[in-house]
Amino acid sequence: MTTDKTKNGTGVMLKLPQEADAKEIIEFYKQVGKETTYLGFSEGEYQVSEEQQSAMIKEINASGNNMMILAMINSKIAGIGTISSNNKRSKIKHVGVLGIVISAEYCNAGLGTIMMDYLIKWCKSNGETAKISLTVRKDNSRAIALYEKFGFETEGILKNETYIDGVYYDSVVMGLMIK
Ligand SMILES: CC(C)(COP(=O)(O)OP(=O)(O)OC[C@H]1O[C@@H](n2cnc3c(N)ncnc32)[C@H](O)[C@@H]1OP(=O)(O)O)[C@@H](O)C(=O)NCCC(=O)NCCS
Repeated sequence: MTTDKTKNGTGVMLKLPQEADAKEIIEFYKQVGKETTYLGFSEGEYQVSEEQQSAMIKEINASGNNMMILAMINSKIAGIGTISSNNKRSKIKHVGVLGIVISAEYCNAGLGTIMMDYLIKWCKSNGETAKISLTVRKDNSRAIALYEKFGFETEGILKNETYIDGVYYDSVVMGLMIK
C-alpha cells in the first residue's frame, strides 16, 4: 500500500485488490466502459461475474509477474492498472502487458503518472518481467504522451484495429525494455 497526491492535492492510495473488491472492480469497469471509447471493450461488454473477478484477483495476487493495482480516492476506485503475463508460455512470460484506465472525473490530474510509476517500478523489481508492452489507439494522444514520458517507444502500427460507428482506427504497439 502506498499513498500520494494528484496535481490538485487530492489524496490517492494505491492498493492491491482483495477478493472482496470484486464487485466494485466490475462496477468500475462497467462505468469507464461508458465514459471512454479507448478501451478494448464497449459499454455493456465487461461481462465478468463476481466469482470470476474474485478468482482473477486471487490468481493475480499469487503470481510473481501479474499484478493489479487499485488507485483509491476517498475510499473509492478511481483507476485500475494491470500487468498481465502469460505464464503458460515460457518464451513470452517475460513480457508484461500493461493496461491502465482512470475514471473520467480524475483524468488529467497526474493520477496516470502516479500509477505508471508504480507499475514500472514493480515490473523492475519482480525479477521476471524484462519488457513491458502495450497497445494504444493512435488517436489517444493523452495516453501516448503518458507512455512516452516513461520511455515507451513505438514498435509498430496495427492498421484498422478498432471499428467504431463506421470508422476504423489504427493502434500503436509500444514497448519499454527494463532489462
Ligand atoms: C490515459 C490515462 C490513463 C492517462 O492518465 P491521466 O491521469 O489522465 O494522465 P496524467 O495526468 O498523469 O498525464 C497525462 C500527460 O499527458 C498530457 N496530455 C494531456 N492531454 C494531452 C493531449 N491531448 N495530447 C498530448 N498530451 C496530453 C498531460 O499534460 C500529461 O503530461 P504532463 O504530466 O507532462 O503534464 C487516462 O487519461 C485514462 O484512463 N483515459 C481513458 C482510458 C484510456 O485511454 N486508457 C488507456 C488505454 S491504452
